[in-house]
Amino acid sequence: MLPTSMTESAQPRSAPTTQPSTGLDSSVASMNDPTCIEIAHFDAWYGAFQAIHDLSLSIPRNQVTAFIGPSGCGKSTLLRWINRMNDIVPSAHSKGTLRLDELDILHPSTDVVHLRRRVGMVFQKPNPFPKTIFENVAFGPRLHMKLRRGDLEELVEWSLRKAAVWDEVKDRLHAPALGLSGGQQQRLCIARAIAVGPEVLLMDEPCSALDPASTLAIEDLIYELREQYTIVMVTHNMQQASRCSDRTAFFFEGQLIESGPTDDVFTKPQQKRTDDYVRGRFG
Ligand SMILES: Nc1ncnc2c1ncn2[C@@H]1O[C@H](COP(=O)(O)OP(=O)(O)OP(=O)(O)O)[C@@H](O)[C@H]1O
Ligand SMILES: [Mg+2]
Repeated sequence: MLPTSMTESAQPRSAPTTQPSTGLDSSVASMNDPTCIEIAHFDAWYGAFQAIHDLSLSIPRNQVTAFIGPSGCGKSTLLRWINRMNDIVPSAHSKGTLRLDELDILHPSTDVVHLRRRVGMVFQKPNPFPKTIFENVAFGPRLHMKLRRGDLEELVEWSLRKAAVWDEVKDRLHAPALGLSGGQQQRLCIARAIAVGPEVLLMDEPCSALDPASTLAIEDLIYELREQYTIVMVTHNMQQASRCSDRTAFFFEGQLIESGPTDDVFTKPQQKRTDDYVRGRFG
């Protein structure tokens, strides 16, 4: 439902608290299913090199799932397949099943633009467009929604507030986004990702380029955002995984070694390799 301030423009503008309607209702029917993304017997290759082997994992709705594991074990590859980023890598191919609720992600008929509206991605290095702060956030909504100017402004504000960067940018919305600090740029990219009303946020090492204060701000944000979104976060920072994830999946050499509630994976792992990794014995 649109916030009051979006439907009655004569009223004073107040801070929006609910997300403006996006016109997407595809997930409503399946909201009762605790699994949001189902990965089953998934294999992925780059040319002849197999990067992921027979991987099966259920990613629960409205929780933060952390992917951990040493460099090169396939974490980013899996994220990239979940929103079909690997479509542009000519050597990349895969087998098996990836489902987002009812949607068969890998089916050739799946509309990738629609998929990416449901599955937002935030990268290790903030990548704002060379546009203003406002235009960065308004870009997706302009592409996907027909909003009146006032509604668009409200959605931009809502997204920036949700991403905990509004107070820092509200007086310079029309300044270039590239003039922001790294931490601010990353929060802007999160605002841009949530502005189109995704169900899932994939975050590939979202804090690795940030200072401790910005990292903490983003960790708080991730924890809060899971009330509305299903979040998958790749991190090399074990403290971060234990601070802000509900579940953790440990990958090694393209295989899923174990997954479960984060506390269990860190304090009583089932597998020796997991134990060695979380204790910092390798990787
Ligand atoms: N575009 C590509 N072409 C060929 N091989 C690739 C490509 N991208 C990744 N790989 C290989 O696939 C394997 C998995 O890479 P991936 O980027 O998924 O690892 P990762 O777990 O995200 O590592 P990191 O923690 O260093 O980011 C690695 O051996 C990598 O070299
Ligand atoms: Mg990676």
